[in-house]
Amino acid sequence: MKKIHVNTSTPYDVLIERGSLKRSGELISAVSKARKAVIITDDIVGRLYADTLCDSLEKSGISHSVFTFPNGEHSKNLSTLSDIFDFLCDENITRSDLLIALGGGVVGDITGFAAASYLRGIDFVQIPTTLLAQVDSSVGGKTAVDIKGGKNLVGAFKQPVLVICDSDTLDTLSPEILSDGMAECIKYGMIRDRKLFDLIASHDLGNIRDVIDDMVYTCIDIKRDVVENDEFDRGERMILNFGHTLGHAIEGWHNYTDYTHGMGVSAGMCMISRRLAPADVTAMLEKCVKAYSLPTDTEAPMNELLPFCTKDKKRDAANISYIICKEIGKADIVKVTTAQFAELMEG
Ligand code: GLY
Repeated sequence: MKKIHVNTSTPYDVLIERGSLKRSGELISAVSKARKAVIITDDIVGRLYADTLCDSLEKSGISHSVFTFPNGEHSKNLSTLSDIFDFLCDENITRSDLLIALGGGVVGDITGFAAASYLRGIDFVQIPTTLLAQVDSSVGGKTAVDIKGGKNLVGAFKQPVLVICDSDTLDTLSPEILSDGMAECIKYGMIRDRKLFDLIASHDLGNIRDVIDDMVYTCIDIKRDVVENDEFDRGERMILNFGHTLGHAIEGWHNYTDYTHGMGVSAGMCMISRRLAPADVTAMLEKCVKAYSLPTDTEAPMNELLPFCTKDKKRDAANISYIICKEIGKADIVKVTTAQFAELMEG
């Protein structure tokens, strides 16, 4: 088993091992005294993995119940959150109990926010089952739901007590969901690690699974380092948002349907790079994202994207921060006025 210790305000381990879902009861018991847990999952992931998790909890003497909601970003809202709170109340969940997020980013984000706010905070465990959730959203303590005004606008920082990454769960991912996560992996290479970028660029969607365990470990370790330096997102952590200002805008323009987060991030990274990065860096990035069936551009008109950008969390009253990689493996944070950003993107 590979272990990454995340030294944040409340420290925890990320465990990476094939087959670890089957051992989750024992792994959870090693870090938590809770004898009662609520598993929060969606209808697709629940069907695939809830029984395995329940069996394992059972063997470790942890009683449990399961709350399931419909798969997809449209579920990540205050209404689902309210249903979760009601379920926790009905199940008499107290602060000595535990929530377990079993699923992708939507499940992890909403479970984390429920854990941050129910009874003013109870422990939770992340069991991410998608590539995106394993390398990004399950680590670092950002939790949130979407509101009409935008994605992730209501949330809290809440670190999990444990993250269990079972690479076997990645075997069942569709090419689209694998692609979705690859955008974040490419991002880690771009912002921090030329060797990782080269590893990814020398593979494609058809054969990346050959090196997926090492790739996942490296991505999580980069995230660990960035989050340890800036847990509450006041500085360096912003580099994780390479491609995200435009990416979130494109996702919003598509109404968060039929357009994945990874597609948005991929198009966003390429669009900002075409404007500001050396041509050879942009060419390598574009070639790499194409190998993972990810887009380099968007059909959305820039004048319609800009209002979404101004709602982005990476913005203060009059400014927007964007991330640029002038060489592969190195990122800079650039703060400009909203008007300068509009001029850059429309020019
Ligand atoms: N997903 C970006 C962050 O965790 O900061």
